[in-house]
Amino acid sequence: MEQKIKELRERVGEAIKSASTDLKELENIRVKFLGKKGELTGLLRGMSQLSAEDRPRIGKIVNEARSQIEQLLAEKNAELKSKELKNKLAAEKIDITLPGRRTIPGKLHPLTLTLNRVKEIFINMGYTVEEGPEVETDYYNFEALNLPKDHPARDTQDSFYITEEILLRTQTSPVQARTMENHEPNSPIRMIAPGRVYRRDDYDASHSPMFTQVEGLVIDKGISFADLKGTLELFLKQMFGNNAKVRLRPSFFPFTEPSTEVDVSCVMCHGEGCKVCKGSGWLEILGAGMVHPHVLEMSGYDPSKVSGFAFGLGVERIAMLSYGIDDLRLFYDNDIRFLNQF
Ligand code: FA5
Ligand code: MG
Repeated sequence: MEQKIKELRERVGEAIKSASTDLKELENIRVKFLGKKGELTGLLRGMSQLSAEDRPRIGKIVNEARSQIEQLLAEKNAELKSKELKNKLAAEKIDITLPGRRTIPGKLHPLTLTLNRVKEIFINMGYTVEEGPEVETDYYNFEALNLPKDHPARDTQDSFYITEEILLRTQTSPVQARTMENHEPNSPIRMIAPGRVYRRDDYDASHSPMFTQVEGLVIDKGISFADLKGTLELFLKQMFGNNAKVRLRPSFFPFTEPSTEVDVSCVMCHGEGCKVCKGSGWLEILGAGMVHPHVLEMSGYDPSKVSGFAFGLGVERIAMLSYGIDDLRLFYDNDIRFLNQF
């Protein structure tokens, strides 16, 4: 019996020592020797056949063997566990020498930058910023601006009609009437309204069928053309610097009387004539004038009590002049080499 136990212990020792792959193998060894039907348990069962004086001695040996085996199992278990962890860590290792993926930070589009600057200048002069819909009614886009259905000036602003009465707005001027209607009649207004407009127009160095305007409207007691001229000059100096050459040219809009268009000397050719200014040396950036009495009346204002001026700026043209860009289409190409320069 003693011999059997000794031999068993040795066999278990060998088995545990060579259990090198995983914890499952070790568990199999434990069951094989110490489990309910294990070999050592089997030996213990055979003890009933021993004589009374042998039993305690053999019992002691069996118990010793048992605790030795358990000890060996525990040690091997710890060893395998740490090996397993090491392998896992090695497999999941992150190579910190690999450079990270860089995200390219976005930038504001040059038109947004220009629009922000225009807004800033007018907000500093006490203007509010209003909004109007890009899908507009014929009434606000034309009729409320003194352009009845058969008016020939409509021809220059053909657009996409959704129905007979609804179209993509051709100008930001409809926000004039919308703003007046939102005010108490004859109460003062000093607002700008930026946004996109749409026209059946060329796509060339200075035109696009979709472009951006900023409308302006000032109404109060005793507003004169001098106020309009002074405001525009102040704006243009802040936008282009004191050296920019500016000219006011008589013009016509059905909703202003008198009307003017404002040109800035072409920065590309310095007045010599190029494709941007179509050889004229000047680039038209806005239309303006004194609000027509009939327009005031249609929106509930009394032209015998108040007067006003209005203007409409072309944001693309202003951006071209501020940054020295010689083709408007660059704003819409989305070429990252162009956009990265701002
Ligand atoms: C108007 O749109 C008038 N509503 C402006 C106005 C407002 C006059 C208030 C009086 C009172 P005009 O069609 O000229 O006017 O356009 C105004 C500006 O928009 C032009 O000076 C120009 O800078 C710009 N613009 C016009 N057409 C285009 C286009 N196709 N592409 C880019 N910019 C354009
Ligand atoms: Mg014009």
